Amino acid sequence: MTKRKILVTSALPYANAGLHLGHMLEQIQTDIWVRFQKMRGHQCYYVCADDTHGAPIMLAAEKQGISPEQLVESVRELHLADSRGFLIGHDNYYSTNSPENKAYAEQVYLALQADDKIAVRTIEQLFDPEKQMFLPDRFVKGECPKCGAQDQYGDNCEVCGATYNPTELKNPYSAVSGAKPVLKTSEHYFFRLGECVEFLKQWTTGSALRADGMQQAHLQPEALNKMNEWIAGGLQDWDISRDAPYFGFEIPNAPGKYFYVWLDAPIGYMASFKNLCDRQGLHFDDWFGAESDAEMYHFIGKDILYFHALFWPAMLKYAGLRVPSGVFAHGFLTVDGQKMSKSRGTFIQAKSYLDCGLDPEWMRYYMAAKLNGRIEDIDLNLSDFVARVNADLVGKFINIASRSAGFITKRFAGQLAADVADKAILAQLQAAAESLAAAYETREYARALRDIMALADVVNVYVDANKPWELAKQAGQDARLQEVCTVLINAFRLLSLYLKPVLPKLVAGVEAFLDIPPLVWSDADSLLLGKKINAYQHLMQRVDPALIDKLIEANIQNMQQINSDNLATQQFEPVAATIKIDDFSQLDLRVAQVLACQLVEGSDKLLQFTVDLGFEQRNIFSGIRKAYPEPDKLVGRKVIVVANLAERKMRFGVSQGMIICASGQDDSEGLFLLDVDQGAKPGMRIA
Ligand code: MSP
Ligand code: ZN
Repeated sequence: MTKRKILVTSALPYANAGLHLGHMLEQIQTDIWVRFQKMRGHQCYYVCADDTHGAPIMLAAEKQGISPEQLVESVRELHLADSRGFLIGHDNYYSTNSPENKAYAEQVYLALQADDKIAVRTIEQLFDPEKQMFLPDRFVKGECPKCGAQDQYGDNCEVCGATYNPTELKNPYSAVSGAKPVLKTSEHYFFRLGECVEFLKQWTTGSALRADGMQQAHLQPEALNKMNEWIAGGLQDWDISRDAPYFGFEIPNAPGKYFYVWLDAPIGYMASFKNLCDRQGLHFDDWFGAESDAEMYHFIGKDILYFHALFWPAMLKYAGLRVPSGVFAHGFLTVDGQKMSKSRGTFIQAKSYLDCGLDPEWMRYYMAAKLNGRIEDIDLNLSDFVARVNADLVGKFINIASRSAGFITKRFAGQLAADVADKAILAQLQAAAESLAAAYETREYARALRDIMALADVVNVYVDANKPWELAKQAGQDARLQEVCTVLINAFRLLSLYLKPVLPKLVAGVEAFLDIPPLVWSDADSLLLGKKINAYQHLMQRVDPALIDKLIEANIQNMQQINSDNLATQQFEPVAATIKIDDFSQLDLRVAQVLACQLVEGSDKLLQFTVDLGFEQRNIFSGIRKAYPEPDKLVGRKVIVVANLAERKMRFGVSQGMIICASGQDDSEGLFLLDVDQGAKPGMRIA
């Protein structure tokens, strides 16, 4: 088989918090692929790094009273521990805040500049006069220009979904200091992406020729559709500079101007690989030079496709370097059908999963069993997780060894039969090697595992048909017993081989048990006969559902401490603009009593209330289901209603008013209904 040279990356996690299960989904998907390629005998390297630069990390460090360098160093240790805990076999895990990265960022930039791909333009931006810094979109908040919702970010409204420029927000304030931002001009550097259209049309629709003669499409079909839309919409030049203060690399010959974090982040792939080359004596240019015959693949989430499928190939191309052979995007991880949520405890940190005593290979198996080559969200259903792992891994796979190994040890001194008459079942397992390889190659892990478990089913039928435990009791059946168990141990070895990319640690245990060198794909051609093996020790526990409860509980408790991607540095919203008493009296707030309350079919956010206002009843929809999942419990209690709000027609009916709630800056702090003291009656006005 032709030996391929393959460089693989997964996206560089931001260095501001520990990794969560969404990150692990990506690293597990990548790691399985890399382990598979290595088992095929290819020269394959997997590099990653922390993405350390940018305003959010600078401000997070400041908030913690440490330097950004200290923050990113300590987070890198956390990330390494998380990845290792999930058995991710990075060949190098580096940092974008490294000398290699600075050198390559400058090299790429200077090459682009020499090719006249850099423009300098003056732009106007919001500036925080108190903090003396330009504000990234996400650090400006205010009222949505479309629907008036308060407290929206500068780029889009989470209430009505509108997108806009931060300068369009009403009553804007800085999320850093609370100050009112002012407009200020500044010179910015742009990458002339508009001039790369022809190249990008070619690259996005193209494919790479592999050393083994196969073609690999640069993009998945869904990704290509997205890119076509974007390209058709016209490509804007890309703003690659930020003004001081900024944590990053200063742009050559441009004092006070820094590379925008997304410029040096993908260059971090090069830096990490260069660092590996220097340690292992590899020739960097063989891999990154324009004429490189190596393949390069980037595993990423769907949210960062734009950067990897447009900016990055264009940067590489016009800097005179090789371009990616493929970008492999995956969907997002949801938990029990919903976005991971801190308040529900489903924002699961990698560390807490491991700390609760859950086996990383359970999660690797479960995620693999759901992953395919398309860009689809992947749901972690916690009860399905327990059932699936226990049924497949323990019930079907491990069962084969535990039914046969003991007899080989006790009855035959560890010796496998020298030959077996009936090889049909083993031949069936061996014949699957190439189709399983094709499934791994195309990232169709769900299909691979389905096929492997179907083979395990066949083997279990053989177990039940031959009943080694009964042969063991019968006189004169020794040879038969040894043969049946030898078939089963060989079946177990082949299944282990096929599962090895997913379960590297468990299969290392199998290799020790069988006393064989590390399994590689071509070992599927052979059988293990006449060999002495070691005594079997149990290789994997069943998942105890109680561990899942423990995990959720731990993440609910953690939620306060997790400073993850919450960019806001202040605890409280600033007070809204002053109003007159007349303004207030326009608002008619009334005490109401809940007569009925129920879930709304087709909505996971709403509750439907019937409330008594004393003088009339009202039907009101309220988006508080998350905070009050049991509507029955609200019946009878008093709430406060905005009684003179215009009726609103919704998909589910007409809402006649609004029930008011206290809330924090984001949903992790919860929603709280308001109450009145004893004696207040429905219909009373609040003034
Ligand atoms: N720093 C950038 C990537 C730079 S790559 C040159 C970044 N970092 S991130 O920490 O936000 O995300 C890292 C990777 O994790 C991305 O590919 C992202 O899509 C992925 N995921 C983050 N949350 C995820 C889920 N909930 N589910 C699956 N993947 C997710 O983006
Ligand atoms: Zn809005």
